[in-house]
Amino acid sequence: MKIGSVTLPSPFAIAPMAGMTDTAFRRLVKRHGGCGLVVTEMVSSEGLVRGIDRTLEYAEYTEEERPISIQIFGGDPEKMAAAAQIVEGMGADIVDVNMGCPVPKIAKHNAGCSLMREPEHAASVIGRMAKAVKIPVTVKMRAGWNDAERNAPTLAKMMEDAGAAAIAVHGRTAAQSYSGTADWDLVKEIADALTIPVFGSGDCIEPEQVIARMRSGVEGVLVGRGVLRNPWILAQAADLAAGRPARAVTLEDRGRFLLDYIDLLLHERIDDARVVSQDRWVVNKMRALGSWFTKGLDNGSHLRTAINTADSLNALTKTIEDFFLLHATARIV
Ligand SMILES: Cc1cc2nc3c(=O)[nH]c(=O)nc-3n(C[C@H](O)[C@H](O)[C@H](O)COP(=O)(O)O)c2cc1C
Repeated sequence: MKIGSVTLPSPFAIAPMAGMTDTAFRRLVKRHGGCGLVVTEMVSSEGLVRGIDRTLEYAEYTEEERPISIQIFGGDPEKMAAAAQIVEGMGADIVDVNMGCPVPKIAKHNAGCSLMREPEHAASVIGRMAKAVKIPVTVKMRAGWNDAERNAPTLAKMMEDAGAAAIAVHGRTAAQSYSGTADWDLVKEIADALTIPVFGSGDCIEPEQVIARMRSGVEGVLVGRGVLRNPWILAQAADLAAGRPARAVTLEDRGRFLLDYIDLLLHERIDDARVVSQDRWVVNKMRALGSWFTKGLDNGSHLRTAINTADSLNALTKTIEDFFLLHATARIV
C-alpha cells in the first residue's frame, strides 16, 4: 500500500501514543516484524518552530524505523506549514497532523480534536501544509468532538480535498475519550467514500481483530494499546494475513522484550537538565509500559506492583528476570 509516494511494506502500523511510542519502543516492535509504519509521539508545532530541544527529542527517530511519520499538533496554518517543513528537513517520510487529542491543554489551543470543530480552518491548515512540503501530509482524527458533532465523514472528505494523502480515524469522539467502543462502521463509511487510503484505529487487542478490521474495507489498521500489551500483535496479524498461524510468543520472549527495551533506553540521549538520572528516567518509562504490558498475563497484577515499587533500575531488571526468565526455565524443566 502507498501513502502518496511512500510505499508501506505492510498495512499494519503502530498508532502514535504520547509517552509510550518513543524511538526505542518503535524500533523493538519493528524488529519483530509485520509493522508497515511507525508514527512518533505528537510533537508541538510551536516547539519545532522555536527549536525547543525537548520538542526535537520527541521527533527523533532512527533509520531502521523507516517509513517514519512525525505527528505534529497545532492550530495555526502558518506555523503548521513551517513545522511541516522542519519535519521534512529532518528527513521524515510523512508528516501527520493530530486532530484527535481530547486533552484540554492541547484542545484549548485550537489544536488536536478541537480542529474538528472548525472544519474550514482545519482544511486551511492542511492546505497550507500540503503546499509547503513535498512529503505526504496525513491526518489522524476522531469520530468527532461529541455525539452531537460526529463529523469525521465530512471532515475527512474536506481533508482529502485540501491535499491530505491519507486519513486515520479513531472511531470515538473526544467526549468519549477511551470509554465505550470505537465505531468501526463510521470508519468503514469514510474508507468507502474517500479515494486516499483510510486507516482505522481502535480496540484491536488480538491479531484476529486486526485482520477482521482489514476485511471490513479499510486500507490499513493502526494498533495502539494492543501493541503495548503485545508488541508482537502486528507480526501475528501479518502471519494470519499470509495464511500462516500466528506466531507463538513465550514468557521468555516477553521478558527479553522488556530487557531489550531497558537496554535501548539506556543508550538514548537524554537532556540532562530534564532528568535527574538516566536510571530513574528508564524506571519511569518501564512503569509506564508495565501498566499495559502486564495486562492479561497470569500474575500480571503482581508483576505490575513489583515494577511500580522497584526502587532502582537493578531491582527492576531483577524483577523482570525473575518473573519471565526463571519462570520460563522452570517451565521447560
Ligand atoms: C497512552 C496513549 C497516548 C496516545 N497518544 C496519542 C498521540 O500522541 N497522538 C494521537 O494521534 N493519538 C494518540 N493516542 C490515540 C491512539 O493513537 C489510538 O488512536 C487510540 O488509542 C485507539 O486505538 P487503540 O484502541 O488501538 O489503543 C494515544 C492513546 C493512548 C492510549
